[in-house]
Amino acid sequence: MSKKILVTGGTGYIGSHTVVELHDAGFEVVVVDDLSNSSVDVLDKIEEISGKKPAFEQFNLADAAKTDDFFKRNQDIAAIIHFAASKAVGESVQQPLHYYRNNLVSLMNILDCQRKYNVANLVFSSSCTVYGQPDQLPVTENTPRKDAESPYGNTKRVNEDILHDSVNAYPELKTIALRYFNPIGAHPSALIGELPLGVPQNLVPFITQTAAGVREQLSVFGDDYDTPDGSAIRDYINVVDLAKAHVVAITRLLENKNKTGYEVFNLGTGNGYSVLQIVNGFEKATGVKLNYKIVPRRAGDIEKIWADTTYANEELGWKAEKGLEETLLSAWNWEKRLRNIQ
Ligand code: WQD
Repeated sequence: MSKKILVTGGTGYIGSHTVVELHDAGFEVVVVDDLSNSSVDVLDKIEEISGKKPAFEQFNLADAAKTDDFFKRNQDIAAIIHFAASKAVGESVQQPLHYYRNNLVSLMNILDCQRKYNVANLVFSSSCTVYGQPDQLPVTENTPRKDAESPYGNTKRVNEDILHDSVNAYPELKTIALRYFNPIGAHPSALIGELPLGVPQNLVPFITQTAAGVREQLSVFGDDYDTPDGSAIRDYINVVDLAKAHVVAITRLLENKNKTGYEVFNLGTGNGYSVLQIVNGFEKATGVKLNYKIVPRRAGDIEKIWADTTYANEELGWKAEKGLEETLLSAWNWEKRLRNIQ
């Protein structure tokens, strides 16, 4: 049986870490990426870490003709992991049509090709953002989804609906949606990590760039939430733990262990940490004092969310292993290598 896996968005943050884990698990990988938010150099780093360089093609999956041509030339694909998407929450508010076109059309082109070229298995990159601000915590996979706070979040929700409706109509498809909580950290080698273009939107890259002197000061968005220290709470998960979950999900589909054609799993740690706890955890793990100030809340932010991981732990046999300080240190080691800081 072919062990060739298509990883779309494979030069991105979570995609590149997943390619490393797929290689380590003995899979052959082909990456498709349009390089709109990542660098092709990541492929060399993947080779340096795993000893193998994935095959690579550069194009945007919203282009139906190019996507079909790719699948026509690669008819030995056993499964797909679909990361490729625009993912900046704030940018999506400014450019909704770009987000809906890129994120929704890409998935539909892939599903068309799966049916045409008999590729049954798909793992989809979803997000806890589909829960909005939950009424009850922790969230399970059965927690009702809520209206998204952004076009980005809505594309994740609509893509889940596209998968659900597609497998009902086309029973040959077998899909798993993985709802990530907040991915952070970097590979222990510090050769790959989060590489935001421009000013980081996410907390941890902003922290590491502040520690590296690239940013003057971290702004903590709000300390008037209904939480122990007033700052917002999230479930931060190590990106390597997250990558390993994708290998488990792909294997589940390849071995026909899925119970339905559309399964959903929360990928979190089950622990919620506040922004100030992350700041303090970073300072403790690295010995670097952070320059930060409290500013008003950021529009669109929810107050608190963390995962109930029981279903993923029991059904997938997967659990996040790495602790917060180890993870924050890995992010710092990655930033230091990137900036040539000793
Ligand atoms: C985390 C916390 C901020 C920056 C989003 C998407 C999610 C996923 C991850 C793509 C919040 C606070 C942040 C800063 C701060 N994206 N913060 N100062 O918003 O939980 O999730 O990114 O896959 O789908 O929804 O992540 O890292 O932006 O924010 O105080 O400079 O850190 O207010 O409380 P978020 P985040």
